[in-house]
Amino acid sequence: MTRHRIAASILSADFARLGEEARQVADAGADWIHFDVMDNHYVPNLTAGPMVCAALRKYSELPLDVHLMVRPVDQIAIEFAKAGAHIISFHPEASEHIDRTLALIHAHGCKAGLAFNPATPLHALDHVMERLDLILIMSVNPGFGGQAFIPEALNKLRAARARIDAYTQRTGREIRLEIDGGVNADNIAAIATAGADTFVAGSAIFRQPDYRAAIQAMRSALADCAVNAQ
Ligand code: DX5
Ligand code: ZN
Repeated sequence: MTRHRIAASILSADFARLGEEARQVADAGADWIHFDVMDNHYVPNLTAGPMVCAALRKYSELPLDVHLMVRPVDQIAIEFAKAGAHIISFHPEASEHIDRTLALIHAHGCKAGLAFNPATPLHALDHVMERLDLILIMSVNPGFGGQAFIPEALNKLRAARARIDAYTQRTGREIRLEIDGGVNADNIAAIATAGADTFVAGSAIFRQPDYRAAIQAMRSALADCAVNAQ
């Protein structure tokens, strides 16, 4: 039984047919829908807000993994919780009070995550592990799909995995470790070996003609790496 999850990032989908795209990627075997929220302020791009999230909710039963690249965070996080998000992640630099924002997300019935840019150290984790359901490691600078994976992210994954394992051993509670940016069937095994259990993939799915084949290629690579690890 694998803990691996593939989160299809609709950033690379056809935004004019978003509902249909979400349905198709769910039918093709994705585990989660990853919803990137960009505000043209915290990151140099602009995507979609809670209204689009609520509309999308009707097209797929999959967990909605909302990745907030916005500042400020708190009010929009609440709006996404109301719009049907299951998991809401934000960047520590974007919140004035990280502990408060995490508590706020939980108070509105969602799981909460912290997202780390390539050059952001993991220090923000020091005092909030008990508030976290997910740690998201960015392997590209946030803002755009289709960028190349930054290899240094593998070191950060190993460091985050060590923190999670120590925490889980102490408390029995698990925290997901998600990687976001430049993931594809060629590098996913190395990423899993470094400790990730949840894999965001945008262009590796939506810029392929056959979503099912694209997801299957990543799953096969993950299965091979699980066998090799034994
Ligand atoms: C980038 C977003 C990613 C993006 C990944 O800022 O957070 O979720 O969609 O796209 P790919 O998989 O194409 O790198
Ligand atoms: Zn993302």
